[in-house]
Amino acid sequence: MSASATPLLKTQGLTRKYGGLVAVSNLDIEIRPGEILGLIGPNGAGKSTTFNLISGFVRPTSGRLYMDGEDVTGQSPTRISRKGLVRTFQHGSLMRTMTVRDNILVGAVGALRGAGRGEREARVQEAAAMLGLEAYLDEVAGNLPHGLQRLVSIAIAFAVRPRVLCLDEPLTGLNQTEANATLDVLRRIRGQFGCAILLVEHNMKAVMQLCERIVVLHHGQMLAAGTPQEIRQNESVVSAYLGARHEH
Ligand SMILES: Nc1ncnc2c1ncn2[C@@H]1O[C@H](COP(=O)(O)OP(=O)(O)OP(=O)(O)O)[C@@H](O)[C@H]1O
Ligand SMILES: [Mg+2]
Repeated sequence: MSASATPLLKTQGLTRKYGGLVAVSNLDIEIRPGEILGLIGPNGAGKSTTFNLISGFVRPTSGRLYMDGEDVTGQSPTRISRKGLVRTFQHGSLMRTMTVRDNILVGAVGALRGAGRGEREARVQEAAAMLGLEAYLDEVAGNLPHGLQRLVSIAIAFAVRPRVLCLDEPLTGLNQTEANATLDVLRRIRGQFGCAILLVEHNMKAVMQLCERIVVLHHGQMLAAGTPQEIRQNESVVSAYLGARHEH
């Protein structure tokens, strides 16, 4: 995981405008193999838009996106996920009337193309085991408590066996016990599969504990990047974001 390794993902001057609003402005970030990178900033800073851009759901107004050094700017979400980048959605993307098993199968359908029944079931079991969802596979997703639904979203993404797992506020609405359990899961996923994780979260305690590096967005621009320690002590970050919060 040396700094000189080709980044899994790299953005160069990534920009997205909506009318007169620059939601993401000239952003240069990179995700290195196996790292846990936090993306934080106030509401409206451009975090979800950055996810939409790097996962191919939204096209950049300008700038480039590279995976493994290859220019993938403008490629579809399907092609980008085949290259190993998978994301969850801030407001959930479960098919609420389907079972947990079917949610995972549908979510991983691209990755499981051509797989036989046994292989598909093995993949479902692997994802369920990783997220502690084995007992819920036959439950209808929409009937599960909120905390478990968030885990199902991660299971769907995980079943694709991503190299970069992008999670948009996975801890929202979870109590502290559920949040800690999810953090343990994320550490396990990274530990066992070595995949990189890009984490958008407002729970600063969690971000500071889990992330090795943090990028701070403000008005679509990168305000700072560094270790949790550096970010905590960065005066512009404290005045734009951390100081207005109550975590410390
Ligand atoms: N499809 C869109 N059309 C118009 N404006 C948009 C669109 N998507 C995002 N924006 C605007 O871009 C800015 C950045 O939004 P974004 O959702 O990326 O913020 P965020 O950092 O994820 O915020 P939060 O922490 O509240 O989730 C906001 O001002 C938002 O209103
Ligand atoms: Mg958002």
